[in-house]
Amino acid sequence: MLTVRAPATSANLGSGFDVFGIALGAPADIVRVERAPETTITVTGTGSEFIPEDPAKNTVGAVADALDAPARIEIDKGIRPSSGLGSSAASAAGAAVALNELYDRGYSRDELVPIAAEGEALVSGEAHADNVAPSLLGGFTIVSNDEHGSNVTQVDASLPLVVCLPETTVSTRDARGVVPERAPLADIVDTVSHAATLAVGMARNDPELVGQGMTDEIVTPERSALIDGYEAVREAALDAGATGVTVSGAGPGVLAVCRHLDHRGRVASAMLDAFDAAGIESRAYQTRV
Ligand code: HSE
Repeated sequence: MLTVRAPATSANLGSGFDVFGIALGAPADIVRVERAPETTITVTGTGSEFIPEDPAKNTVGAVADALDAPARIEIDKGIRPSSGLGSSAASAAGAAVALNELYDRGYSRDELVPIAAEGEALVSGEAHADNVAPSLLGGFTIVSNDEHGSNVTQVDASLPLVVCLPETTVSTRDARGVVPERAPLADIVDTVSHAATLAVGMARNDPELVGQGMTDEIVTPERSALIDGYEAVREAALDAGATGVTVSGAGPGVLAVCRHLDHRGRVASAMLDAFDAAGIESRAYQTRV
């Protein structure tokens, strides 16, 4: 079978709601495909019991339809669903790459972004590309939309990260429900300045600038209120030397940027301890963009 590894991603990064995304070194999904008269999907691995295998209800089924590429598809989930780590997007991106190759469709990675995003629409109700774009392209991605669709700008960033994932879950639909429809101009101005700082930081691989630019006063305060223990975990990570902390995607994963690769251990321990003190089990990934 043709096998593809599809990385987890972290969308938003605080100031870039629905715009910014990064590919993570770990965790990842493994997608295997072989030609078949009609599409069947089997799902194993973490949280697989929550994922429908009916192709009409699975992100990957939508991708197979869009590519007119019926296949026997096996998904081994390394990324827990409802984690804020782009779980469904990784499966969709992995399937898009695998089926494109299996049927020799000839699409570039850029061209696969809107195809994989269609799969996302099935899960969240809207076609976001901010998780599928980094899963397909790697590094740091900026998604912008115009009348012709999505445009993606990609930068090969490299930064040390910790992602701490509590046992709790937050659905993307619920997390989108708390996003305010309007914001004061002063908060928008702050967010734009932070987003610009973060983008420059990614281009320079500068963890100070990225950490500084990873805050917003519009979406993250509402989202973080859905994550028990968030404030304590954030403070613990900053005290342990993280340059910035925010909600990963829709949550409940919490993302911390570190100054050096060897700072990740103490940042991870501080975050795990803070969740533990709040009575919540969690696991930490010491990873990188
Ligand atoms: N930008 C999206 C959100 C990512 O935060 O709702 C999750 O698909």
